[in-house]
Amino acid sequence: MARRFKLRPIPGEEGDISEPGSMIDRRTFLRYSFNTAAGAITMASLGSIGFASMLMGQAEASGGDSAVRFWVPTGAEDSAWYGDRHLEAMNFSAFVEVAAATNTGMAGAQGVWSGMPVSVIYVPHDENKNLGLIENKPRFQLMDGYTADGKYVGSGHELNEKEEYSALSIHDNLIIIFSRCPHLCCIPGWQLVANDFTSDNWTPGGSDGGGNKLFCICHSSRFDPTAIEKNRNRNRSTGSEFEYIGVRRSGGPTPVGMPLIPFVINGDLLEALPDFKDWYTYCD
Ligand code: FES
Repeated sequence: MARRFKLRPIPGEEGDISEPGSMIDRRTFLRYSFNTAAGAITMASLGSIGFASMLMGQAEASGGDSAVRFWVPTGAEDSAWYGDRHLEAMNFSAFVEVAAATNTGMAGAQGVWSGMPVSVIYVPHDENKNLGLIENKPRFQLMDGYTADGKYVGSGHELNEKEEYSALSIHDNLIIIFSRCPHLCCIPGWQLVANDFTSDNWTPGGSDGGGNKLFCICHSSRFDPTAIEKNRNRNRSTGSEFEYIGVRRSGGPTPVGMPLIPFVINGDLLEALPDFKDWYTYCD
């Protein structure tokens, strides 16, 4: 008999979230699960509604909820620094404070925005950008992107060069990443498991060396949140391809990296912007 997992509901959502205690099978779990140290994270089921339709529906109906909120994976309540802040709105100053106490000056957290899983990563870019590329002095790097079969797609520098990407310009030492693995759509996490890929150290170049990778426990894909590239993915329902700006795949079976989400800081609160909704449809 297939193993089944108990779901945690998202409070405040209407009509599309399973009731508390609903059970899903492993296939559904893999579609919607968060990764955790115990491998037993639960994320609300979206029933038959895909992420994209949920996002589009919210945006059209009400303008959407722009707040980015902490999401505490089950089992991480005591280990994650935001463990007691489940579904609270994310504030910028919390990342600055936590980052100041780390070896690299980086900090990250799992979150949810408009029903979608996100990773929010703080990188001391402004402090380190003029130092060159030095070990354990992390900064954002704009890099060339290639498809899984080695075809050049474009440069991360287009972030600054093309008007269409202006909403994504790097600011406030922070990025927000749509956190669904392009391999089989699990949800990679920030330091939710302990291994060489997630330890608090950093090497430049967007390679698989060093730590501080976003790590997907399903099949061990890794993503460097400091390496920004242009790449290509496709909507699995329609087959239509799109190009996006995102973080680089550094290792594992994922063919490409994950896209960025533009945001603003309103006072101290993080608010995401729905400028590139098609980029988040590759698991639909
Ligand atoms: S789903 Fe992430 S590595 Fe397979």
